[in-house]
Amino acid sequence: MAAKKRIGILISGRGSNMASLISAAREPDYPAEIVCVLSNRPAAEGLARAAAAGIATQAIDHKAFATREAFEEQLDAALHAAGVEIVACAGFMRKMTAGFVERWRDRMLNIHPSLLPSFKGLDTHARALAAGVKLAGCTVHIVRPELDAGPIIAQAAVPVLCGDTPELLAARVLEAEHLLYPHALSLLASGKAAIDGERVKIVQVPVNQAKPLYWPPLK
Ligand code: GRF
Repeated sequence: MAAKKRIGILISGRGSNMASLISAAREPDYPAEIVCVLSNRPAAEGLARAAAAGIATQAIDHKAFATREAFEEQLDAALHAAGVEIVACAGFMRKMTAGFVERWRDRMLNIHPSLLPSFKGLDTHARALAAGVKLAGCTVHIVRPELDAGPIIAQAAVPVLCGDTPELLAARVLEAEHLLYPHALSLLASGKAAIDGERVKIVQVPVNQAKPLYWPPLK
């Protein structure tokens, strides 16, 4: 097997997606290893979860820096010190400058709880319910300077049920996120997902699994 890609995870909160990446990366044939978890919030729950899993953690409090650039300088230094090759944002709630994003161009990914390009930004589930969509979902994409934009690696579609609240829908989507993110990272780290400009080409797609998802179901 080729050398495992070295992954740094950026979080700000509870870190459930981070935990799913850590657990997937424990599999011997997973093409990536998690080498550090960094948070801009020292109190982030995810930091303790990562430390308990034996991963190196560091809090870099954005409030301690006069500018966004100075904060990112420190973040970048920590990522380089850990030998990070791919950055995985997992509930990282800091806006990034274009300069930082460009430094990690095609090497930084993010998970967003909607089927992009629909419902960029915050409150995605409430907005999806208000729009009356029948399928919601989540997206793992390469980060570009524009908010929630960039080449899409993988998506999962989740049914919207009658009586859904934003919380119920969020929980159903989150369950899909926890499977989708490790899958997408694996595709990228193994080279099965290749970035081609603003799109991602997936090699070796099992076309026999390419079935439409109907919701409500046909029968
Ligand atoms: C997830 O819903 C993710 O899609 C979004 O922020 C949330 C983070 O949750 N970007 P967690 O910290 O991974 O539990």
